[in-house]
Amino acid sequence: KPWMSPNPVTGYTASMPDNKAPSAVSEEPPEAAEESLVKNGDSGGLKKSVGLVSGTAMIVGTMIGSGIFISPKGVLEGTGSVGFSLIIWTACGVLSTLGALSYAELGTSIPRSGGEHAYLMYAFGSGTRRIGTVLAFIYDWMGIFILRPIMFSVMCLSLGTYTVKPFFPTCVEPPEMPVKLVTVLAMLLLAAINIYSVKMATSLQNITTVTKLIAIMIVTIGGIYKIASGQTQYIGEGFEDTREDPSLIAIAFYNGLWAYDGWNNLNFITEELKQPEKNLPRAIMLGIPLTTVAYVLANVGFMAVMSKEEILISRIVAVRWAGHMLGVMAWVMPVFVVLSCLGSANGTIFATGRLCYASARDGHFPSILSYIQVKRRTPMPSILFTLIISILTIIPSDLSTLIDFYSFCMWLSYGATMVALLYLRYKEPNLHRPYKVPIFIPVIVLIMSVYLVVSPIIQTGRVTFFYAILFIISGLFVYFPFVYYKLKVPKTDAVYRFFQIMFQVAPPHHD
Ligand code: ARG
Repeated sequence: KPWMSPNPVTGYTASMPDNKAPSAVSEEPPEAAEESLVKNGDSGGLKKSVGLVSGTAMIVGTMIGSGIFISPKGVLEGTGSVGFSLIIWTACGVLSTLGALSYAELGTSIPRSGGEHAYLMYAFGSGTRRIGTVLAFIYDWMGIFILRPIMFSVMCLSLGTYTVKPFFPTCVEPPEMPVKLVTVLAMLLLAAINIYSVKMATSLQNITTVTKLIAIMIVTIGGIYKIASGQTQYIGEGFEDTREDPSLIAIAFYNGLWAYDGWNNLNFITEELKQPEKNLPRAIMLGIPLTTVAYVLANVGFMAVMSKEEILISRIVAVRWAGHMLGVMAWVMPVFVVLSCLGSANGTIFATGRLCYASARDGHFPSILSYIQVKRRTPMPSILFTLIISILTIIPSDLSTLIDFYSFCMWLSYGATMVALLYLRYKEPNLHRPYKVPIFIPVIVLIMSVYLVVSPIIQTGRVTFFYAILFIISGLFVYFPFVYYKLKVPKTDAVYRFFQIMFQVAPPHHD
């Protein structure tokens, strides 16, 4: 096959002919040029097919998952009062916006896919023996093997649980077998869509984003209706019973921030974004404030209808809310929640595929993971890989511990990325920055991330911290032989060729 010609091990780097002209990233190459690329052993790379609307949906639709329908309870537990809860929800939104604005600067000045991976490499040096490579590798290692697959499984497990629950009305917890079956089916479906076509995946993202916004609108309108008809006894409690214990406030923050997580999702796919220097900041400035307003309004909706006591005993706040407000139509809420999980999981696997692709392209993982399916132009191997790891992580595990561990590691990496931004301002003051964030913003985000990383270490007796260190060390065991000393596993050429023929995948072009 012509597209197999380059050395599958070295991939595009050494052996690529100079085929910059037609593939030079920005526009999709015309058919004939594309064919010649493929003949040169190039897949033509990923297309620039994500516009402003899909880009915004990539952010909003990933952020809104199951969190807003469940976490109001966790936030209330930490704050004790309606008023303080609303403040925390707003503060989490503001913090996410500030974080994302900083990422807008990084994404536009370093327009490469892979998010933090690309920024750490660029800021701290990308040679094999440079600190940037080590940091980026540790990030990739944790992200691709642990954190992002866990996140994907968490979303799909929630989907499985909420889908199966109505069929077992008398059970408190639906039985494990059907839940896991639905979970795996959802994973397979999403992976198949993402392998089949980027367009289909982005359309799914757009549609589910609209449905979740409708769900939030229903909750908001319900709440406003209650308030307007004079029922203000719950929301009118204001700041009664507010708790001031800092450790409880941290819990509230963690719950709220989980619902906002995903604000950096578009930074993983910068290379596929049309006009990233314009559309990345726009999508961020549109998407995150929109989500913040939606979340605060949804909370008003919940708290106008339900008492604090009731919210605290609900498993899924939104479903109980629907029981009060929607009468015979109450069944729509679980459907909305399932669709919301589906969309968020879709955004997650989409971005994770690109992270895996970008890091394999930079030599951190076997180069086969950076190959592109030549007909479908999707990062098929990396999506398959993410799928397999994710299926392995649906072991019985305690979701809240996973989410805590996840948040801890994420804020560690957000903090490191803020340091990268500040360092780049100093090291490369003249770097072309289509969007420049006011410098105090990354400083605030950095301070907050230190707080969010340090406070659980103090509170939970260092367990999370210990696990994180353990994973980092395990990553170094892989880094030194395979990345630093470039050890080659024998026979990989043959294995890669086999996969190339099997799946019709080829190296991405080198821009
Ligand atoms: N915020 C989402 C939720 O409320 C979870 C997002 C998971 N994070 C991600 N980067 N995909 O369920």
